[in-house]
Amino acid sequence: MPRIPGRRLLHSPGPTPVPDEVLHAMLRQPTDLGDPAVAQLIDDCERGLQRLLQTTTADVFLYAANGHGGWEAVIANLVGPGTVVLIPGTGHFSDSWAEQVRAFGGEALRTPWREGLPIAPAEVEALLRADRAQRISAVFTVHTDTASSVTSDVPAIARAIQAAGHPALHVVDVVASLGAAPFAMDALGIDVVMGASQKGLMGQPGLAFVAANERALAAAQRNPAPRFYWDWARRRGAMPYQKFCGTAPLAHLAGLRAAIGLIEAEGLDAVWARHQRLAGAVQAAVSAWGQGFALFAREAAARSVSVTAIQTPPGVDPEAIRRVAREQFQVAVAGGLGPLAGRVFRIGHLGDQNEAQILGCLAGVEAAMLQLGLAFDSGLPAAQQALVDAVRAVNATPA
Ligand SMILES: Cc1ncc(COP(=O)(O)O)c(C=O)c1O
Repeated sequence: MPRIPGRRLLHSPGPTPVPDEVLHAMLRQPTDLGDPAVAQLIDDCERGLQRLLQTTTADVFLYAANGHGGWEAVIANLVGPGTVVLIPGTGHFSDSWAEQVRAFGGEALRTPWREGLPIAPAEVEALLRADRAQRISAVFTVHTDTASSVTSDVPAIARAIQAAGHPALHVVDVVASLGAAPFAMDALGIDVVMGASQKGLMGQPGLAFVAANERALAAAQRNPAPRFYWDWARRRGAMPYQKFCGTAPLAHLAGLRAAIGLIEAEGLDAVWARHQRLAGAVQAAVSAWGQGFALFAREAAARSVSVTAIQTPPGVDPEAIRRVAREQFQVAVAGGLGPLAGRVFRIGHLGDQNEAQILGCLAGVEAAMLQLGLAFDSGLPAAQQALVDAVRAVNATPA
């Protein structure tokens, strides 16, 4: 393959671009596992994730794994044959999590997926109220479904669980939202959170984490299902070898520590505001395209700040746009997943992204649409205006 001059813009919603600081932190010789620097590195990652998740009470468990590994860690500890969990429908990723629960012999109750819409908290509350025997042991919520680009209202779902007076644990997948959208584990009363390195955390793929509070750890202790690698109890020791059920993935941990440092140097509020601003620019551009192109997420408040799924007009193959954007214009965007395959393409705008990258991405996608002879109105002026308006709004806000 000939070298591509310059950089291809990566706008998949994970993996996302990895900052140079993170790449450099990973480029290192391993240390022997008894070196105190290893224990320090693990501790820094655990404390750093606690700060990002806004928890002072939950234990953090790190795994050499992808997001599916994080899901499996949750399931292996909390689900056994016959365990019932409620997984509200959000589309592809809640479907996949439910499939994994069933593979472990668990029963996954579902609320129906409403295309383009977030989870309805009232449906969660109704199912929990109807569960008089309290068979449902946990609610598994996908915060942002990366396939549909819809973000559900986790605080409202937490309130629904509380209103139902049901003791189910609340487990939240923040794979696509942590480091992009506000989230506060303790304040929301969330029992378990799981995530992965390759999205808002700006890392190479391959590191997953779970944070579990006392209530969740106690539930895991009562679960007799066999487990080993994922077992929270087995990993609660102080020794690095114990914490990782073997050798720690040192380079990935060094990358995670560097990434947390970057997020905290920018400031969580600033990181969230940047994601909001960039998402607003993409949404403005797509809305201006017209001619049958449309935002898949129907409610403005539920549009993800991490990723935007774009429905194409009838007869327009989103994969063709994707292919030309990547091969001809060096902009990599993502395709549709599950029920949305062939219906949407997706622009990722999370992690190490800025205004120039977003405008470059939109320009590249529009160039691909032009090359394919598609009808649309350019959305670049609207995107630029959205960015200008966002800066003006900040400047007009009294300090
Ligand atoms: C919300 C969400 N959960 C879970 C996963 C699974 O992660 P992985 O592909 O790393 O296994 C993804 C992947 O994109 C995701 O977006």
